[in-house]
Amino acid sequence: MTATVIDGKEFAARVRAKVAGHVTRLKDENGITPGLAVVLVGEDPASQVYVRSKGKMTVEVGMNSFEHKLEVNTSEEDLLALIEKLNNDPAVHGILCQLPLPKHLDEDLIINSISPAKDVDGFHISNVGLLGTGQKSMVPCTPLGCLMMLRDHHGSISGMNAVVIGRSNIVGKPMAQLLLNDSATVTIAHSRTKDLADVVRAADIVVAAVGRPEMVPGDWIKQGATVIDVGINRIDAPEKGEGKTRLVGDVDYASCVEVAGAITPVPGGVGPMTIACLLANTVTACCRANG
Ligand code: GUN
Repeated sequence: MTATVIDGKEFAARVRAKVAGHVTRLKDENGITPGLAVVLVGEDPASQVYVRSKGKMTVEVGMNSFEHKLEVNTSEEDLLALIEKLNNDPAVHGILCQLPLPKHLDEDLIINSISPAKDVDGFHISNVGLLGTGQKSMVPCTPLGCLMMLRDHHGSISGMNAVVIGRSNIVGKPMAQLLLNDSATVTIAHSRTKDLADVVRAADIVVAAVGRPEMVPGDWIKQGATVIDVGINRIDAPEKGEGKTRLVGDVDYASCVEVAGAITPVPGGVGPMTIACLLANTVTACCRANG
């Protein structure tokens, strides 16, 4: 039997429609337009694509988008001054500083200079601590999108065995925390994990977030398990013609889809949910700021 394919594109469109409804009410009933500021330092092509896409979708749901594009050699002092200005700007409810930052900038220092209330990425140390203790916080967008899909598919994940492959601060760790807060039994696997195949085979839920193309084969997946693929990897695709590429996830979709009960595709799975959750976080930040 092949798996149910979880359609992240369709789910994300529903989330965005809900966000747009909230935005309309905030405008009509409170005279407030939520605003998201995105800061991009340098000209990393992938980051430019993400930032453009974020700006477009922010406007589409009726919010204000403020884009700040800074030169690659911007000083830490200047970047901190901009963030301070955005922290104090009442029209800005969410601030996102696109990562990775150029090497000369201290990423932790920059992230922690964003007001925790406007930290729609959920990366500020205060938000990390609040999430870790199960308190109300800003939740990182990609793990939040994964959790929403899992809750939607299963209703409740309480008591399920979940394995998160990858321990990044952006995805793996907050994902594990969210699963734990929903009463799953959680294992975080990573590059040093022994017998990774057996660890994954014990899981009812597998979240793959390692950034290694098609690393998880179908014979690691327990029959009927739910597979959430966070990876977005561009690989050569000579079968499509010379110099052509294609996007693949961290799981080998062709073999996993035969064993899993449900699976997210790449593209069209987790990816679209990330921006939808960013927009949702911005509305949340706006509502909290305005009582
Ligand atoms: N770079 C890659 N993913 C992200 C993200 O979720 N937030 C930010 N700020 N930068 C990123």
